[in-house]
Amino acid sequence: MGNVGASEVPQLIGPDGLRIDGRRVDELRALRVVAGPLKRADGSAFVEWGANKVMAAVYGPREVHPRHLQVNDKAIVQCRYNMAAFSVDERKRPGLDRRSQEISKVIAEAFESVVFAEEFPRTSIDVYIEVLQANAGTRCAGIVAASVALADAGIPMVDLLPSVAVGKVGGHIVLDLKKEEDNFGEADLPMALVPQSGRLVLLQMEGHMTASELGRALDLGVTGCRAIYEKMKQALRDRYSVDPPQAMAEAAA
Ligand code: CDP
Repeated sequence: MGNVGASEVPQLIGPDGLRIDGRRVDELRALRVVAGPLKRADGSAFVEWGANKVMAAVYGPREVHPRHLQVNDKAIVQCRYNMAAFSVDERKRPGLDRRSQEISKVIAEAFESVVFAEEFPRTSIDVYIEVLQANAGTRCAGIVAASVALADAGIPMVDLLPSVAVGKVGGHIVLDLKKEEDNFGEADLPMALVPQSGRLVLLQMEGHMTASELGRALDLGVTGCRAIYEKMKQALRDRYSVDPPQAMAEAAA
């Protein structure tokens, strides 16, 4: 939410009910998910979501660094979310700031609740999220990328974690806020869903909405997450399904 006076707030929903980029209130930005673009990492994924571009890499299960964080009966999940200095309009100071620390922590906690950590005692599963271009919803794009990267690394999990931000913009409950909507809207509410159980493992909120608006926002977010989930699964299918003629040619070579 920006600190601007009411007179400076742009009109975010037009008289036709459409948003500044022409989307309906319940419409997602274009989303492309690619599994496995990095060869060095154990697992990786790239997500292009509206004007967001986010890369995730996963290493592990591997030895814990720093050593004192090691836990005897399970793996820990460590996450580093980072925004490149060139990812935003005004150059962001490189390195960890409080915002990235907070985002890294909530993302690690979300994954800790879905990874079968007991299977890998005394190890660390390391998740790196690099935001190359930002336009609001980068923590959600990071979770989507990291989920697919974890699956690509073969880490056993309850489920993938689709994630999206919902919010209140120009008095309307909207799905998947872009930058202007995040800055000038009334509320921003990122969430991450375990699709099989319907459990939310990340839910944050900035701004204000009424209890009934919150209910509608959560329903809209869950529907959005289910659509995102399909794209995540498709990205993994695209990476791992080999069409039969190609498999035969590879076997013969
Ligand atoms: O990115 P996300 O919505 O998860 O987090 P946010 O803290 O609500 O930030 C919203 C947006 O503000 C980011 O996606 C960036 O586009 C922008 N931002 C920025 O321009 N400079 C920063 N230092 C931090 C955020």
